[in-house]
Amino acid sequence: MRAVLSDALVFFGATGDLAHKKIFPALQAMTRRGTLEVPVIGVAKSGWTLEQLVARMRDSLEHNGGVDEVAFKKLAARLRYVDGDYAESATYAAIAKELGDAQRPAHYLAIPPGAFPTVIEKLAAAGLSRNARIIVEKPFGRDLESARQLNEIIHRVFDESAVFRIDHYLGKEAVQNLLIFRFANTFLEPIWNRRYVASVQITMAESFGVQGRGKFYEEAGAIRDVIQNHMLQVIAFLAMEPPTGTYAESLHDEQVKVFRMIRPLSPEDLVRGQFRGYRREPGVAPDSNVETFAAVRLHIDSWRWDGVPFFIRAGKCLPVTTTEVTVTLQRPPLSHIAAGDTNYFRFRLSPEVVIGVGARIKRPGEEIATDPTELKVVHKPEGDEMDAYERLLGDAMEGDRLLFARQDGVEAAWAIVEPILRETTPLSEYECGTWGPRDAEALTADVGGWHCCEPPSAP
Ligand code: BG6
Repeated sequence: MRAVLSDALVFFGATGDLAHKKIFPALQAMTRRGTLEVPVIGVAKSGWTLEQLVARMRDSLEHNGGVDEVAFKKLAARLRYVDGDYAESATYAAIAKELGDAQRPAHYLAIPPGAFPTVIEKLAAAGLSRNARIIVEKPFGRDLESARQLNEIIHRVFDESAVFRIDHYLGKEAVQNLLIFRFANTFLEPIWNRRYVASVQITMAESFGVQGRGKFYEEAGAIRDVIQNHMLQVIAFLAMEPPTGTYAESLHDEQVKVFRMIRPLSPEDLVRGQFRGYRREPGVAPDSNVETFAAVRLHIDSWRWDGVPFFIRAGKCLPVTTTEVTVTLQRPPLSHIAAGDTNYFRFRLSPEVVIGVGARIKRPGEEIATDPTELKVVHKPEGDEMDAYERLLGDAMEGDRLLFARQDGVEAAWAIVEPILRETTPLSEYECGTWGPRDAEALTADVGGWHCCEPPSAP
């Protein structure tokens, strides 16, 4: 049975960075597609007027994909603005007024997690949580304990079925494709295991720094910002058993199973780095110990993956911006004609979507020799493809929880990184434009090093 549609969207943090970068473009796209025909109420404490918010929305669209005048006009007509302190009841009375006849609002908390408890409590006190859904942004907590507390606070007011925890990687076409590629192709399943796979790597590289988000980043660091969530979700899609179509929670069950089989990380499996110059960023402490780069080696204690190392490296200020997965296969026995790690699957998740299959072919001529080659499919997004945020907000308003993180999954993912958050682990400086600290190379030395990344192809 399809759940009922939310009949209003209230989004807290309307004047913030995320709204500017991701939410307004998603709202415009939904309006254009005809999937957002309800009042949209922005809430923030900026001393702004509705006109200022509309101007901000235009600016956001101009910088992120362009203004579609028809959709913009429709959306602007639906947009309301409530300026107020999240801790004051008057703010919620004003929201209630703007909600008018709406009976089933979706409340989207695009605000720092420190403000979640207050907003949730105040929504309930104002009667705005009745029949409502709650959409929450990452980071979901700072560690296992705070995530548990947050879940507890949310559940005092909202049933888990009304909670939508965003991890926008789950909304990405290319990430979903990992699962489809695995389970929609007969040739893959027989070799997708410890007998044939030698190692798995994910690189999430960003060539830029913290882009003015120093204050946020000081609270996060690479492990909390992207490894505990985005990267572990990718690992789950790569490592999970096939979910079944016979009950809705199956995908979540399989994700959580993978997280529970990953050994909690120990400091020996971690390399942390900080790019030179980070400490001079606005909002960053001059003696900051926060990592802008992290590389880890994971062990999955499962029947399928026992002994196969999974690596993640993620960092800011690296040579390129790309996210890429490489699944390297074992070498065939006749090593004199099959030197090197040239049997692999490569999934580039961004900026463009590529699936590459590494193989060796005969070098033309008399000699018995081989050359490496790659069979490659490139998908260039065209037309009106959905961005992750559009997909996720639309799904949340429809009550479709498939692409959202479930409570036990979030907690199990925190449990994996928990030991390396607690201990003070070494931090090395690296130059911008390099692949992080040298030690990161040593982490993958026994599997032939890091295999990423080809330069992005020309548009
Ligand atoms: C966010 C992180 O969740 O994901 C950012 O907070 C990071 O630090 C971003 O840059 C990357 O997302 P995308 O979709 O641009 O790969």
